[in-house]
Amino acid sequence: MARNWSPESWRSKPILQVPDYEDQAALERVEGTLRSYPPLVFAGEARRLKQQLGEVAEGRAFLLQGGDCAESFAEFHPDKIRDTFRVLLQMAVVLTWGAKVPVVKVGRMAGQFAKPRSSGTETIDGVELPSYRGDIVNGIEFEDGARQPDPDRMVKAYGQAAATLNLLRAFAQGGFADLHKVHEWNLSFAGNGEGARYRELADQISEALDFMQACGIDASTASSLGKTDFYTSHEALLLRYEEALTRVDSLTGAHVDTSAHMLWIGDRTRQIDHAHVEFLAGVENPIGMKCGPSIDPDDMLRIIDKLNPENEAGRMTLIARFGAGNVEEHLPKLIRAVEREGKKVVWSCDPMHGNTIKSSTGYKTRPFDRVLSEVQEFFAVHQAEGTYAGGVHFEMTGQDVTECTGGAQAISDTDLQDRYHTHCDPRLNASQALELSFLIAEGIKAERKKAAA
Ligand code: PEP
Ligand code: CO
Repeated sequence: MARNWSPESWRSKPILQVPDYEDQAALERVEGTLRSYPPLVFAGEARRLKQQLGEVAEGRAFLLQGGDCAESFAEFHPDKIRDTFRVLLQMAVVLTWGAKVPVVKVGRMAGQFAKPRSSGTETIDGVELPSYRGDIVNGIEFEDGARQPDPDRMVKAYGQAAATLNLLRAFAQGGFADLHKVHEWNLSFAGNGEGARYRELADQISEALDFMQACGIDASTASSLGKTDFYTSHEALLLRYEEALTRVDSLTGAHVDTSAHMLWIGDRTRQIDHAHVEFLAGVENPIGMKCGPSIDPDDMLRIIDKLNPENEAGRMTLIARFGAGNVEEHLPKLIRAVEREGKKVVWSCDPMHGNTIKSSTGYKTRPFDRVLSEVQEFFAVHQAEGTYAGGVHFEMTGQDVTECTGGAQAISDTDLQDRYHTHCDPRLNASQALELSFLIAEGIKAERKKAAA
């Protein structure tokens, strides 16, 4: 850990993307409340994820990270949590079966509330109000009252995160994720192309399980068949919240941010001498960092040194998000810098944030083809460099929304209005997410074949 670090040392650094709270006394009261609350995750769980990400860094596992762009208070419902969890399970099964590699599952769930914005204010018809910064900060409605940052929202977000995590733990450990239920995970509306393809794969898995059972291997002898590890993550943006949930692990004495297993730094807040890098340097959790087109390889190395001075495998995940058509220009120089300095990192691909466009009908959208292209370019660059494309990071939901165009359902610009529900960026729907996982499984298989040759 960096010298002179403390959970509040970020407060003396420059900071971006910070809400302007009017009532300081109320803010401090909320921070005190959160400090007195139970941790949401445990240090041992974060360490276990780090160890599994270490396997990814070494090329022996694959990272699947996904969920909402922004969780919201209004959309909070057990069915939505279940459906997103279920699609992630399906995607993981497709990847595991197709690519024969263990999949580390991390949700953008149970805490993904705070959003960075390109501008601090928004002006509509001559009225200027603070920008919406996620439900943990203010309300999305374009009204003065809603847009004022309200510290009590942090307590509400904590409660929603706790309930979400509780349900996710039950799903992961309590029988829902039993591989024998591989057929039941198929969503009712996924009856066409992707659903049928998934059913075929589920048939094969069922047969394999029957065979294994006949050989004496079932959930009672191999517990990983009956349950799964599932982890949570979010952007560590609202540092007052993150600090208030930071605890000292009684076993090791290290600080752990117990708001989630994994935290990441956004593309807008990764300045080495600023508050967000300072805060994350001192907590033990696995850390992600978004790498967009503006990142400089030497700056990136300095940030890696600050966040991971011991070069621990699994501590750092670099999440590339350049946009389709731009990967070849930006990624190789980052990979070469990392290789030259012998840094142990997980390379993951976020094909969402560099591919956001405005549709002809006025909606923010992401064309499925561009999302897929960026993933393919990411795999191709790693193959050319001889390095391991270790993971993907998606904004997705288990709901049948119409937010990204294209895919097997051929969602068009005019379809977007049908079920456009996101509180921030457009998400892949369940069938688009599943389709993508089939295509990625092919990519990993090819990668591994080439590596073995
Ligand atoms: C996000 O992941 O929602 C996000 C804002 O990403 P980025 O920091 O890469 O723009
Ligand atoms: Co987003």
